[in-house]
Amino acid sequence: MHERILIIDFGSQYTQLIARRVREHQVFSEVVPPQKALAAAQKEGLKGILLSGGPASAYAEGAPTLPREILQLGVPVLGICYGMQWMCEALGGKVVPGESREYGFTPLHIDEHGPLFDGVAAETVVWMSHGDRVETLPPGFRNLAHSSDCPGGAIGHEEHKFYALQFHPEVGHTQEGERMLENFLRSICGCRGDWTPRDLAEELVERVRQQVGEDGEIVLGLSGGVDSSVVGAICQQAIGHRCHAIFVDNGLLRAGERDLVEQAFRQHFDLDLTVIDAADRFLDKLSGVGDPEKKRKIIGYEFVEIFREQAKRFQQAHFLGQGTLYPDVIESVAAHGGPTAVIKSHHNVGGLPEDLEMELVEPLRLLFKDEVRELGRVLGLPEAMVARQPFPGPGLAVRCVGECTPERIALLREADRVVREEFEARDEHLGVWQYFAVLTGACSVGVMGDQRTYEEACAIRAVQSNDGMTADWVYPSRECLQAISTRIINASPGINRVVLDITSKPPGTIEWE
Ligand code: XMP
Repeated sequence: MHERILIIDFGSQYTQLIARRVREHQVFSEVVPPQKALAAAQKEGLKGILLSGGPASAYAEGAPTLPREILQLGVPVLGICYGMQWMCEALGGKVVPGESREYGFTPLHIDEHGPLFDGVAAETVVWMSHGDRVETLPPGFRNLAHSSDCPGGAIGHEEHKFYALQFHPEVGHTQEGERMLENFLRSICGCRGDWTPRDLAEELVERVRQQVGEDGEIVLGLSGGVDSSVVGAICQQAIGHRCHAIFVDNGLLRAGERDLVEQAFRQHFDLDLTVIDAADRFLDKLSGVGDPEKKRKIIGYEFVEIFREQAKRFQQAHFLGQGTLYPDVIESVAAHGGPTAVIKSHHNVGGLPEDLEMELVEPLRLLFKDEVRELGRVLGLPEAMVARQPFPGPGLAVRCVGECTPERIALLREADRVVREEFEARDEHLGVWQYFAVLTGACSVGVMGDQRTYEEACAIRAVQSNDGMTADWVYPSRECLQAISTRIINASPGINRVVLDITSKPPGTIEWE
């Protein structure tokens, strides 16, 4: 029986980030919608409740709400943003529209440290994102911190162990958010931290076992990247040979990738593996297509068609296993059914046909990349597999701006090999999230051997990131850049210029398409 924290989701885009922060403190948490909250709260082991933010106004008609009994269970509660405002209204306070919105980095002054702000500097910076504010505190509450526009930046009722924050402690931009959440979990809720990555791995294995049942089979889309490899390890432990891994060579892989993945997989896994050579099939379908979203959709569709065809080889393969992560989900679909913009259709999320007729097995769907790497280590995968730089499902296609002809893909594949080799030769890849080449589709005039050239520019893209959601560009050494530039131009008729991409995410994305 593990200690348990309940996270009630009022629809914030940061709810899974709260869950992730709780996991970082090795505490088990469960995310539930408001209508399931009371039943979930009444189960054993509850140490505390976190109320997420959300887009609604607490005083508005139809705003999400909770049964009052949630606040009568005798456990500590921490409300965040909308969670704070709901709590205030429910306990007899008043929330009103603010005179001005507060959004982004905001200085916060701590008025009363108490257990929540223990060890936090009196002047700190927090991430605000709200229009409403608490006007009247509920009885027994005190202001604990304020910003210039918000007298109740943080409030609390120490006796009941009720606390509420107008800002978001779960977001990395809140300087001391981690300390605040740790104080809540450890000092206020009294959690010791008994939930390890090994427990998480066991739970995920058990869930796959339950989902697939006694004799179900999984067709697993294996890319060789860390995500699908970890899903492979989970499925292997859960159902052994009833998992059939399918590695598709779509003609958009990096140099040497197919052999590397096949060898590594056969060495470290005991699963049924099929390698499909489908390069012509994908490149034919991509012929004449330049639009990035169309390219993504075509590639996603072909992948799914191949998995469906493969599933027919097995009697009970009603399940499709995928290494989908949480950032893939939020960038590809409106995760909460709201008006969230679709940035890119990740093929394993946004591009699945409605008539798939297979149930998805996505054990990593609520996790972030670094958590998946940790899981991989716990599951015994080798470091080389766990630490591999991410490579997108649509492969080189999203780095080849415009049409993916076989010639352009071959050109890009070679340039990419050079970038990787030169980074790795100097250990400049260490600590870098991704480093690769992009064929930009932009042509420029050059001069080689006294002749005029008019060829494509190749971009070097290297970024640092924690989870792929935001990223900073990396500045390789001059020697590294020089070697890359010389090698690419000498060896690649078709490329006469090499440039360095110095765009962070946002405003750019990591891949070019
Ligand atoms: P962007 O380009 O959206 O990429 O900033 C963020 C991270 O996701 C990877 N990526 C993908 N991974 N399928 C994947 O499995 C996809 O369709 C896809 N698109 C982008 C990208 O390499 C980066 O690590």
